[in-house]
Amino acid sequence: MNPFNVLSYKNVICGLNAVWNLLWQSAMFFLNSPKEMDTQKEWFEDWFDSPYYHILYGNRDMQEAEFFLNNLLNRYAPNKEVRIVDLACGKGRHSIYLNSLGFDVMGVDLSPQSIQEANTFSNERLHFQVGDLRALNLGAQFDIALNLFTSFAYFDSLETDALVLNQIKGILKPNGYLLIDFFNANKVGCALVPHEVKEKEGIPFELRKRVENGIIIKDILFSDKGKNYHYQEKVQALQLADFTQLFAQTGFELVDVFGSYDLSPFDVQTSDRLILIAKNHA
Ligand SMILES: C[S@@+](CC[C@H](N)C(=O)[O-])C[C@H]1O[C@@H](n2cnc3c(N)ncnc32)[C@H](O)[C@@H]1O
Repeated sequence: MNPFNVLSYKNVICGLNAVWNLLWQSAMFFLNSPKEMDTQKEWFEDWFDSPYYHILYGNRDMQEAEFFLNNLLNRYAPNKEVRIVDLACGKGRHSIYLNSLGFDVMGVDLSPQSIQEANTFSNERLHFQVGDLRALNLGAQFDIALNLFTSFAYFDSLETDALVLNQIKGILKPNGYLLIDFFNANKVGCALVPHEVKEKEGIPFELRKRVENGIIIKDILFSDKGKNYHYQEKVQALQLADFTQLFAQTGFELVDVFGSYDLSPFDVQTSDRLILIAKNHA
């Protein structure tokens, strides 16, 4: 098959998706949400602290964490003396596994519920604390900072992303490493499914996705025990070039890029993940 035909075919699909998204956005404008969003809180404070996030994303489990970490450990073989911080650790699946291998790990997350659960695993070389990426105050310096499974760019500006990177720089030792595991915004944007229903643990979650001003927005609607819920996820569609710029701006040097948890090379068209490893300039 002529590769140029394949490319133009992909462009047509991507274009059709964009038109569909536009139509969907217009339709959304006329729809009422079943529950008013809590305007006092940021979306990520509410959603990740709710049990429903963990139900919807139940497949993001320990097995996936171990697979990814084993591949990284085989490749880079860090010694057991390094101190690791897992930023936006959730319930700590990556921290817990690294600690089980002998590493000293601190997990930090904004969600009190997740940290409470993670803390049931804590020991003298595994600590968890509630904290905000925008104001890190951990009283320690680390050799490696992890930010895993799309836990970055929840804010509405590149300035806040840079602020977060500066906060991370502040807790990393000179020449320490930062690993960010993000999604491939190019692929997600083109393959966006505007509307789907995913049933998890008997709850049909209705997912409505759209792209607005470079932000991927996912509305999550469902009912449980007679109550209607409406949550939202909003993540900036950052591309490799955006990260490269942010790293340059904040004194990090990009040293490796991968496209999946098996550490295959990043391909902007086909990779699911955008996994970046950056070194903190001394
Ligand atoms: C997609 S989850 C990933 C959790 C974990 N890294 C994992 O792989 O299971 C994103 C996490 O980021 C946390 N988070 C969101 N905003 C944060 C912030 N400003 N500071 C710290 N954590 C935050 C959420 O509470 C949530 O646990």
